[in-house]
Amino acid sequence: MNFHDQHTIITGGSSGIGRAAARLLTRRGAHVSIVARRQGPLDETLAELEPLRGSQSQRLRAYSADLADWEQTRQAIAALTTDGPPPDILVNSAGVTHPGYFEELPLDIFHTMMDVDFFGTLHPIKAVLPVMMERRSGHIVNISSMAGFMGVFGYTAYSAAKFAVRGFSDVLRAEMKPYGIRVSVVFPPDTDTPQLRYENQFKPLETRRIAGTAKTLTADQVAQAIVRGIEQRRAYILPGFDAWLYSLLLNGFVGLTRWYFDRIVAQVRRERGVE
Ligand SMILES: NC(=O)c1ccc[n+]([C@@H]2O[C@H](COP(=O)([O-])OP(=O)(O)OC[C@H]3O[C@@H](n4cnc5c(N)ncnc54)[C@H](OP(=O)(O)O)[C@@H]3O)[C@@H](O)[C@H]2O)c1
Repeated sequence: MNFHDQHTIITGGSSGIGRAAARLLTRRGAHVSIVARRQGPLDETLAELEPLRGSQSQRLRAYSADLADWEQTRQAIAALTTDGPPPDILVNSAGVTHPGYFEELPLDIFHTMMDVDFFGTLHPIKAVLPVMMERRSGHIVNISSMAGFMGVFGYTAYSAAKFAVRGFSDVLRAEMKPYGIRVSVVFPPDTDTPQLRYENQFKPLETRRIAGTAKTLTADQVAQAIVRGIEQRRAYILPGFDAWLYSLLLNGFVGLTRWYFDRIVAQVRRERGVE
């Protein structure tokens, strides 16, 4: 796939996986817009992207917004798309985590995980989708986690939010298919980023041991898997061998049910006379 002139909006593009994806897509000629809360890391990232762009017409932009807040998200997407190219690709990488024993985790943590990891994924999609539906094209990539398809000890708050991202993405993929819009969901293992360094302070020993069964990847490796997954139009993007193996064990027949249900949807749409 040619990313040249494709407008890619990357939430959480100022750090970790999102920042690595921003670097990769800038090198591939995309217009790149990044969204996160803190202005400092946004500015640093833009400065890092600047020398990577191929021409002055390639747009690089940053916008500060809290994506857990719908109004801020709506304004961010409007600001990034009104006087520039429409959104072609949305990568939802903004996310937070906080592991711990359930009985010790305060309720606030559960609300924050849902607000940022789930609603912070849903809000940008709500904002870009009308344009994508009108143009009948687009690709949405949501970053879940391996903890988003298997419950991992210590992640009651995070797994619940990342399962929500996965369930939401599965349904959205089926509903957007008739509009020519693709939806992918990414399931990375532990990845060496500021998020991993933050959560390592709180990880119960049991969580560490389980996490140790999958190899830690670099942010660049995950970003490369994401870009490859977009090119190959994959519904599930599984960075690294371990994510692939665990997904095979747990989701082995998901492709078959996806295919079967998509056929039913296509048949019903023909009966309803909608294309
Ligand atoms: N690292 C891992 O081991 C791992 C494994 C599996 C899945 N993941 C998932 O991969 C995604 C990227 O993680 P990462 O490791 O790259 O994390 P990271 O380095 O901590 O980056 C997170 C990004 O999200 C932004 N962000 C956080 N809360 C936000 C909010 N409310 N509104 C807007 N932006 C917000 C942060 O910027 P500000 O703080 O300035 O807002 C930052 O740019 C996350 O969804 C994460 O859950 C990570």
